Amino acid sequence: MSITIDGPAGAGKSTIAKIIAKVKKLTYIDTGAMYRAVTLKFIQNFVDTKDAQQIEALLADIRIELIGDDIYLNGTNVTEEIRSPEVNQLVSEVAKLSPVRKKMVEFQRTIAAAQNVVMDGRDIGTFVLPDAAYKFFLTASIDERARRRFEEQRRKGFTTSLEDVKSEISNRDRIDTERELAPLIQAEDAILIDTTGLSIEKVVDKILSYIQ
Ligand code: CDP
Ligand code: CDP
Repeated sequence: MSITIDGPAGAGKSTIAKIIAKVKKLTYIDTGAMYRAVTLKFIQNFVDTKDAQQIEALLADIRIELIGDDIYLNGTNVTEEIRSPEVNQLVSEVAKLSPVRKKMVEFQRTIAAAQNVVMDGRDIGTFVLPDAAYKFFLTASIDERARRRFEEQRRKGFTTSLEDVKSEISNRDRIDTERELAPLIQAEDAILIDTTGLSIEKVVDKILSYIQ
């Protein structure tokens, strides 16, 4: 039994997915973290997103591992670094690239073939695991999503403004929705949950009420 949770930035996907995974004793897989790790490597290696050869070379040399709540890029723990403003700015451009998606989707399907997972992202219910037992699409108003992300970044000590956070996530949502390959869209058979004004506990209860 696998569960997919898709939706735009700040909808609460990873927070909720982690709790559901714990309650249901499934493995949580954060696919956004994978695209973020690839993006970090683009930044570290000064790779041009328009240079096919450079992209192929980067992908041939990349090793991503998920260990507990941490993510490793070629052996280095990059859990904190992948949430940086630089990665936020570039990740949706990198996630548009066909060879990047091909490699990540292959990796995600291999993980899901070996165990039952709660996997969150943008295209999990529509493309990565179309036969998943339960599919959810979480959303919330842009103001609430921006406010949640802003509070989170403030807690972490980043000094961004609410307006900047709002424009950054709106920009990513637009690129993710408009891209050609596996865009962000609710799967036809996914259950839509608008989490605006809902606590984390309420959303968890709602999801659990659908799962036997
Ligand atoms: O946590 P947040 O919602 O801000 O983003 P994330 O889940 O970490 O995903 C970062 C970015 O990776 C998204 O904005 C997408 O561009 C990309 N992504 C994707 O294309 N497909 C996925 N399955 C997951 C993430
Ligand atoms: O993964 P995604 O980008 O969809 O969102 P998240 O990282 O799980 O949630 C963003 C922030 O919103 C976190 O700080 C959560 O604690 C918070 N949150 C909330 O306040 N209320 C909810 N119903 C869900 C998440």
